[in-house]
Amino acid sequence: QIDPTQYIRQIIRNVPDWPKPGVTFRDITPVLQDPRSFRVLIDLFVYRYMGQKLDLVAGVDARGFIVGSVLAYELNLGFVPVRKKGKLPFNTVAEEYSLEYGNASVEMHTDSVRPGQRVLLIDDLIATGGTLLAAARLLQRLGANVVEAAAIIDLPELGGSKAVTDSGLSVYTVCS
Ligand code: PRP
Ligand code: HPA
Repeated sequence: QIDPTQYIRQIIRNVPDWPKPGVTFRDITPVLQDPRSFRVLIDLFVYRYMGQKLDLVAGVDARGFIVGSVLAYELNLGFVPVRKKGKLPFNTVAEEYSLEYGNASVEMHTDSVRPGQRVLLIDDLIATGGTLLAAARLLQRLGANVVEAAAIIDLPELGGSKAVTDSGLSVYTVCS
């Protein structure tokens, strides 16, 4: 009998020295490529969120789209994208966050959430937490109730999940 979390953890690929020397990149593509681990992964999220009162899943560009859209479909919810700057065609709101060198920003369509809607925010990984915090601020500016911020992987040594929790959000990750 396999433990689902262990199963996912062992299929995630650690790529040394990518994107630069000294960094070990957690690559989820093998989890998506293997039909069994892809299903186990999505089912872990489905079991957590089925029966919870949710209106939407918001997925973060780009890997949050892959898990977020399938999860939204399985939960009979709509999906809204949190995109990197300059990609969305309609009226947008933006939030900046800091990267190691400089800033980046995420955007959402102004009509993607209605005030009071209960939203699950999802991405593949929490490193510094900057991306999920910016995405959560965007959703909150649009009046959303961010029910939880979820990811497949937490890198706790970078303090991101703590930062997101300290901001008042509930955080769930499958593995670290
Ligand atoms: C990665 C990852 C998260 C974010 C986590 O995406 O998919 O979105 O970084 O880092 P943080 O917790 O420090 O914010 P990246 O910004 O590399 O963009 P990509 O999806 O375009 O690869
Ligand atoms: N994997 C994916 N995204 C990331 C990582 C990683 O290891 N580190 C920071 N963002």
